Amino acid sequence: MQDFIQKLPKVELHLHIEGTLEPELMFELAKRNQVNIPFNTPEEVRAAYQFTNLQSFLDIYYQGADVLIHEQDFFDLTWAYLLRCQADHVIHTEIFFDPQTHTARGIAFETIINGISGALTKAKQELGISSHLIMCFLRHLSEADAIETLQQALPYKDKIIGVGLDSSEKGHPPEKFTRVFQMARDAGFIPVAHAGEEGPASNIDDALNLLGVQRVDHGVRCVEDEKLVQQLAETRMPLTVCPLSNIKLCVFDNMQQHNIVELLRKGLCVTINSDDPAYFGGYMTDNFMAVANAHPMSHSELAQFTLNAIEASFISAEEKSRMTSEVTAYLSNFRAA
Ligand code: ADE
Ligand code: ZN
Repeated sequence: MQDFIQKLPKVELHLHIEGTLEPELMFELAKRNQVNIPFNTPEEVRAAYQFTNLQSFLDIYYQGADVLIHEQDFFDLTWAYLLRCQADHVIHTEIFFDPQTHTARGIAFETIINGISGALTKAKQELGISSHLIMCFLRHLSEADAIETLQQALPYKDKIIGVGLDSSEKGHPPEKFTRVFQMARDAGFIPVAHAGEEGPASNIDDALNLLGVQRVDHGVRCVEDEKLVQQLAETRMPLTVCPLSNIKLCVFDNMQQHNIVELLRKGLCVTINSDDPAYFGGYMTDNFMAVANAHPMSHSELAQFTLNAIEASFISAEEKSRMTSEVTAYLSNFRAA
């Protein structure tokens, strides 16, 4: 199973680039940029990654991002993640970034976007990995702040396919961002949002109805509303599920309790993703392995997670068809061998 999963072509749809900052790179950038960090070794950093909920993670995660200052830093961060993609047979990835985490510290929007997209262009050319970028609004900040961020993004519209909504879900429901999402949709950005991670199933309903999202990030608390589950299955509304993240942030007690396989078998378009792999203990292969180890599953069910991700991605119909063929060929070759 390990070999099948390792080499299975994968598509990632829920990945925060700031969440790929490995402690070693954090130290390197801290030294390069003369930023103080409250740790002495990368091991000490890893030992601090014991989270009790989403907020306990976010506090450490935003602090870690302080070492990112120059365009080269954003390039190095993104390139390191793309090398992980190559090792994990990720053929396409749709990446979130949080501009407000950086612009609030005086980093120019241009610095962030040029560093990240420089690495994405190089990965397409040298590794054959395709990608899209999605800009997230931080939901603990105001809607006015999100509107300002949307305006800053407009000159870079060609580099950003969509807008998302992340950070603290409790106390910051989708409703708070109705107008900025309307503005983003009018400007041609595809909307997605984190909903039903720590927040109630009604946040999923509201993300669909008030924000018009085309994918729900996480969405695992949909099971609290049977009618919603049925609707998600019927409409094939994608959920970008992050198994290791959900365990690390105590959304489920353990992987056996995780509902991703139950949702797959109910016909929902669920996908496997790594969220913040440097903080949650693993990239794409690790997430697939963790699910497969806890839930006995067939090879075709495992491949279905990639087929769902291709269906849920924002690539063209031609690219979807090419990637689908790649996955079905992989599955039949594996069976034949
Ligand atoms: N930002 C980074 N990871 C996140 C998550 N899992 N939920 C909400 N905001 C995030
Ligand atoms: Zn996330």
